[in-house]
Amino acid sequence: MISIVGTGRVGTATALIALLRGLDNKIVLVDVVPGLAQGEALDLGHAAAILGIDAEIVGTEDFSAIKGSDIVLVTAGKPRKPGMTREQLLADNAAIVADIASKIKQYAPDSVVIMTTNPLDAMVYVMYKKLGFPRERVIGFSGVLDSARLAYYTSQKLKVSASSINPVVIGMHGEAMFPVPRLSTVAGVPLTQLMSKSDVEAVVKETVQAGAVITKLRGYSSNYAPGAGVVLMAEAVKRDAKKTFIASIYLDGEYGLRDVVVEIPVIIGRGGVEKVIELPLNEEEKQGFIKSVDAVKALIDALPEEYKK
Ligand code: 2OP
Repeated sequence: MISIVGTGRVGTATALIALLRGLDNKIVLVDVVPGLAQGEALDLGHAAAILGIDAEIVGTEDFSAIKGSDIVLVTAGKPRKPGMTREQLLADNAAIVADIASKIKQYAPDSVVIMTTNPLDAMVYVMYKKLGFPRERVIGFSGVLDSARLAYYTSQKLKVSASSINPVVIGMHGEAMFPVPRLSTVAGVPLTQLMSKSDVEAVVKETVQAGAVITKLRGYSSNYAPGAGVVLMAEAVKRDAKKTFIASIYLDGEYGLRDVVVEIPVIIGRGGVEKVIELPLNEEEKQGFIKSVDAVKALIDALPEEYKK
């Protein structure tokens, strides 16, 4: 059984993709807005009926429905509104995440939690602190998104399938992310050898700006790609795939870092993050990575104290 907390655009895209890929035969949708999750569940249930997919989809405002979930996908949270400061969004979403953490702790204490709530790394930090689960079971999805975007823009330049590109983007999810073209490869060959310096710079820039470009074009942020990313991670947990992803996780000494959450390569299986991979970064890349990590640390520092313990 899979639960999805938050049935906004990301939550519903996640639910649809999960349904289409047969992630589980029971999907529970929870949202605090009265009627919203029920309505979405009905619509998705009708889609399943049309497509001949035998899955039970439940929508509710009652958190106790997540009881028995192997995996809880958390997509709830406010988007940033005009005039709202980053700190305000941070504090508002931290409060939402802390509340959801108390419910997950109560009803699904053995679950693996995968999150999309922004600002992602700081929200994973709050979830980790408030849940008290082993860090392996509290994962932020967006490294999948940032690295997929690097693969996408590279594939356009090189005319190679995005799935044949092994992209590496680490650090913060946000414009301070750190793409690493030298360690991103096609059939083992680094992008820095396959493309001119200016083409590399161009794909890096497109990757960094992708989220903002989508938001500017259509007036709201991405949802299909986050849905795809979070479902792929959930599949790796469900099927014990031991597959590599770039994911946000609480660091405990890796890269010489502690008490911070950032995107880094990991292996995901039944237990959640089963291994953290340390990349062979050169000096210049280490500096770029640390700058990105510092941007996350600044957000964590700005969190109200109650969400840091
Ligand atoms: C994105 O990068 C908004 O975090 C979301 O598209």
